[in-house]
Amino acid sequence: MKIGIVGAGGHGRVVLDLILESCGMEPAGFFDQKISGEGPYGWPILGDETSLVENWPGFRLDGVVVAIGENRTRRRIFEILSAKGIPLVSIIHRQAQVSRFARIGAGTVICAGAVVGPGAVIGDNSIINTGASVDHDCRVKDHAHLCPGSVLAGTVTVGEEVMLGTGTVVIPGITIGNRTITGAGSVVIQDLPDNLLVAGVPVRLIRHLEEEKDDQGKKTNDRSGPGKKTGGKSGLGEKTNGRSGLGKKIN
Ligand SMILES: CC(C)(COP(=O)(O)OP(=O)(O)OC[C@H]1O[C@@H](n2cnc3c(N)ncnc32)[C@H](O)[C@@H]1OP(=O)(O)O)[C@@H](O)C(=O)NCCC(=O)NCCS
Repeated sequence: MKIGIVGAGGHGRVVLDLILESCGMEPAGFFDQKISGEGPYGWPILGDETSLVENWPGFRLDGVVVAIGENRTRRRIFEILSAKGIPLVSIIHRQAQVSRFARIGAGTVICAGAVVGPGAVIGDNSIINTGASVDHDCRVKDHAHLCPGSVLAGTVTVGEEVMLGTGTVVIPGITIGNRTITGAGSVVIQDLPDNLLVAGVPVRLIRHLEEEKDDQGKKTNDRSGPGKKTGGKSGLGEKTNGRSGLGKKIN
């Protein structure tokens, strides 16, 4: 299979390596808005996202993968390419251990040394980075990024566009809301709502993340549906009494 890589930055190079270390795949080159000519390690820049969409049949590719670490940008490009019917392929390093009883979505990459256990379901366009571990029956939703060495114990749910910083550890049964970010080395021992930045052991609230708004001031990134808490007033910043309150700094 000939694969195009969208994004020629650091993660693009990781994905190039992944493709070379996967069974039955061959990299064709990169698509990138910022560079042209020769790309990383001598592979060509074939065009940008626009030319990819406009000239798709001419490139004679079997599929593409969006190799951009930042979740929102990766999601935006993934959605454009999907809408045009361009096949988004998942790529698994030959030294990743993925259970035959796990399900992996379109466009998701699973890097070297990662482990995905039985019953785990990884959505579309996510990154399970180097050495990350997703244990049995976890659910990782679309466009998430588990940075290197992060560990999900069994039955954890990770929301859309979540980024778990390098080395984050999550105990069993926890749910992490959409777009929430954890700092490197975090330990998560309670559910986290949407749109938070947390860090520490155990995590404390660093700040609420901005909602994206359109010209009319309407939220554009609240995809959580009616009746669901979306960050702000959902508890973590409100605890004031305990040593475990995430709103309180623990030094
Ligand atoms: C959490 C993180 C995103 C915060 O970045 P930031 O918004 O620039 O935050 P700041 O550096 O201003 O720090 C804000 C506060 O959080 C604390 N903090 C930041 N990162 C922390 C971490 N990993 N663990 C504990 N506390 C942390 C800071 O000490 C600071 O505390 P203070 O207000 O008491 O001084 C960043 O520090 C981090 O850990 N990123 C991980 C990225 C990663 O793993 N990338 C891998 C890509 S493959």
